[in-house]
Amino acid sequence: MVSHHATKDSGSDGMAGKLPARHALDPLDAGEIARAVQILRQQRPVPTDARFVSVTLHEPPKDQVAFPASEGRDPIAEVSREADVVLRDPRQRATFEAVVSLTACSVLSWRTIPGAQAPLTPGEIGDCAVVTMADARILAGLERRGIADPGRVRVEPWGIGAFSGPEEAGRRLAWTLLFYRDQADDNPYAKPIHGLHAIVDLDDMAVLRVEDLGTVPLPPEAGAYVSDRVGPLRDDLRPLEIIQPEGPSFDVRGWEICWQRWRLRLGFTAREGLVLHTVGYEDHGEVRPVMWRASVAELFIPYADPRPFYAWRNAFDIGEVGIGILTNSLELGCDCLGEVRYLDVDLADGSGAPYKIPQAICLHEEDAGLLWKHFDATSGSTEVRRSRRLVISFIITADNYEYAFYWYFYQDGMIEFEVKLTGIVMTCALPPGEASDFGTVVAPQTLASHHQHFFSVRLDMAVDGLRNTVYEVDAEAVAMGPGNPLGNAFQPVRRPLRRESEAQRVVDPSRGRYWLVANPGKRTQLGHEPAYKLVPGPSVLAFSHPTSSVTRRATFATKNLWVTPFHAAERFPAGDYPNQHPGGAGLPAWTKADRPIEDTDIVLWYTLGNLHIARPEDWPVMPVERVGFMLKPAGFFDQNPALDVAPASSSHC
Ligand code: NI
Repeated sequence: MVSHHATKDSGSDGMAGKLPARHALDPLDAGEIARAVQILRQQRPVPTDARFVSVTLHEPPKDQVAFPASEGRDPIAEVSREADVVLRDPRQRATFEAVVSLTACSVLSWRTIPGAQAPLTPGEIGDCAVVTMADARILAGLERRGIADPGRVRVEPWGIGAFSGPEEAGRRLAWTLLFYRDQADDNPYAKPIHGLHAIVDLDDMAVLRVEDLGTVPLPPEAGAYVSDRVGPLRDDLRPLEIIQPEGPSFDVRGWEICWQRWRLRLGFTAREGLVLHTVGYEDHGEVRPVMWRASVAELFIPYADPRPFYAWRNAFDIGEVGIGILTNSLELGCDCLGEVRYLDVDLADGSGAPYKIPQAICLHEEDAGLLWKHFDATSGSTEVRRSRRLVISFIITADNYEYAFYWYFYQDGMIEFEVKLTGIVMTCALPPGEASDFGTVVAPQTLASHHQHFFSVRLDMAVDGLRNTVYEVDAEAVAMGPGNPLGNAFQPVRRPLRRESEAQRVVDPSRGRYWLVANPGKRTQLGHEPAYKLVPGPSVLAFSHPTSSVTRRATFATKNLWVTPFHAAERFPAGDYPNQHPGGAGLPAWTKADRPIEDTDIVLWYTLGNLHIARPEDWPVMPVERVGFMLKPAGFFDQNPALDVAPASSSHC
């Protein structure tokens, strides 16, 4: 499972050889996926042409997982291994969920989910493209546009949301965008074909209807960005090499990662991609829990253009497809630099057969600049420490866009989450000389549509234990008066979020707002409730109208923070099946109960909203845009936990 790819021979780094036995939280391996599907086929009437959507670890209850580990740092529990299986039967037009016990070789549950549209499978997406291009109405529409060679047309199936007509109710649908290119290394999005769309029934795998809204000429330019198409390349960069002659400072044992004081486990699912489990920090020999589980649980991209069909462009990349299955195989020196270790992941294809994404997760260390410093002017001495961070990342391609997800772990107890957005902006063709309020002209006759990206990051916190309370903290000025005669006073005002209705919050940078996740049942030596604070970065909310279909389906994007009590079944903020869902599922439904969230096992749902008004500089391929947030210890330690970081050995200081 651990691939060795290093700039130098890494055969003696001690990580090769026998892997530990399965840990309760290890993702399913290929053998387990195959066995789960086999057990299900043997014991239930699974149709031969059923499409397997996902076969994923059914995570054990929290009380069956030792966290922190009771002995040492490599706990291997003898636990029952179970698989969650989601499949679509196109003949019955039904979505099924099963839980399969691999340990007991039995199906624990098997049920249809009425009305549910599971995420689209890669097989369906591929077949949808094929039937679209085989449709005479599409070919006639292309001919009307002067496109004679359908081989140069790219079909992109999209989730249809709740926009299908009543005559299509109950059908499993996708709709298509079309793009043209003259040659294979042209930009795939440079020549959008305006106004020609197929609506496809994915169960029947047949085109239901074709809509032709009229012709707009193809933009003239190819938008190429490959190196041999962009003219002379710069030749003035000298080599920069990252050398770690003794190997990296982290240790990979199966899916367990140890680096500096950090101890955590990794997981991976078809829907969420990388998952962090049991994140803890070793403090004076004791591993103190920080987070039980963290993942990106939804990724929602609404577009601004109100015109017919353009208004349908709203992507739920997790609920409609899954970012695990969209994950890239990474390449050394390109995606990650230096002394890198990779983890491969196993997923199920549409037939339920396992397949591997090699090098799906990247682990490496980076110099992170300054950790801390002081020059003592009296003594003339300087103490300075370099910061090192552990980087755990994966990258997905969702049609036109790339999302690179990074979890950074720092020596001072900080965790940072960052997404780098790149790839190609979604385009439409403009008539010559025209512009639009809803996009930026990025090339002649080419409009890059305004849009937003919302990441719902599910943080199942466990700060020094499972019972936590969330406080909202705002800095506030103190009223001028006898206690504040000069008017300079300000203070942080801490307000507990006691119930779900109080815990639907938005960022407020003008008050320095942050959210403190504290353990009210414990005290540090200084008397603080041990806590981590969620420090938001720049973030926006959804601009879609509150009553619109997109807002109803993505209500989570109307707030930056939601807090719910932990419930194992509550994993996705727009519900389990956002594909074609009319809305209201997930966070808005659960939080109607207005459950108490104080001093209990809680989950934070942080919505990170990015506004993308495209720039001409985003074309033909977009330089990385960074968004993120931080989790910082705030009273978790009694002092700077990175005092013991040694000075750099080669330094003069
Ligand atoms: Ni964007």
